[in-house]
Amino acid sequence: MGCLNIPQNENVLAGVKDDAGVYKLREDLAIVETVDMIAAIVDEPYSFGMIAAANGISDIYAMGGKPVTAMNIVGFPSESMEISVLGKILHGALDKLNEAGVTLMGGHSVRNDEVKFGLSVTGTIHPNHIITKGGAQVGDKLIVTKPIGTGILTTALKAEMLPSQVTERLIVQMARLNDKACQAMLEIGVHACTDVTGFALIGHAGEIAENSGTSIEINSKLVPVIPEAMQFAHMGLIPEGMYANWEYRNAIVQADGIDEDTMSVLYDPQTSGGLLMCVAPEKCSALLERLHNLGVSEAVEIGRVVETAACSQIIVL
Ligand code: CO
Ligand code: CO
Ligand code: CO
Repeated sequence: MGCLNIPQNENVLAGVKDDAGVYKLREDLAIVETVDMIAAIVDEPYSFGMIAAANGISDIYAMGGKPVTAMNIVGFPSESMEISVLGKILHGALDKLNEAGVTLMGGHSVRNDEVKFGLSVTGTIHPNHIITKGGAQVGDKLIVTKPIGTGILTTALKAEMLPSQVTERLIVQMARLNDKACQAMLEIGVHACTDVTGFALIGHAGEIAENSGTSIEINSKLVPVIPEAMQFAHMGLIPEGMYANWEYRNAIVQADGIDEDTMSVLYDPQTSGGLLMCVAPEKCSALLERLHNLGVSEAVEIGRVVETAACSQIIVL
């Protein structure tokens, strides 16, 4: 969005630099809005609908908002594909919206050569309780709530190399809402948050670092990775987006002595990834405990926020 001249408005409390836009309606109420659309990453349409919906709502949770309403956005090849496929996608999405307590208000579809599906989601948030990417403080601990590696595994799935039990686990993870992770961070209090999606763990950590004027240290040995992802990365089943992420972020990353497969996973674009939070060190164990109690069992501490020199860096240990 670099060259776009976006009009200033004092009621816009968060915008293009954050996961979702926040617009103040009253002193005690703001709306939080986001839109997301993805290509079919799994064959089974019902599961794809669930995943796309969880992915679409996620930006609201990343801001600490409460999602309220949604609209479907659909691209569908109506002359070459059975319309019942679309019905199943919409069904999966609707079930996920119901789980999140979000009301579907309508939607819009266009003819497209490839199946695409997503949501625009509107939520509510208190103007004083917005969690952005810009609040991280030196000394904060970094927590991530879902394992990474979904881009590599969906690439293996497309190549028909993924065992069916692994596919099932992958679908369950990507369809999981970030609602409980959001609840825990609101209860305990965090300084910054974003969700881990297309720009990979490194890219999204980079956004927090840059928006906060800090650097971030990631301990690669602590990062939760879906076990099979490393093995498929080693076999070269790497999504296009990984190379783009690597090229885009390489200049701010220091990763001396880290092997290539590990870096491939850290640069792997995620669909419906977890939340990445920066929390004061004295609250870290309380936050992890609350996450685990709410069933976000894979949440783990992976690094810390450190001082920056000339520009923000991601230091991989
Ligand atoms: Co996001
Ligand atoms: Co998004
Ligand atoms: Co319309």
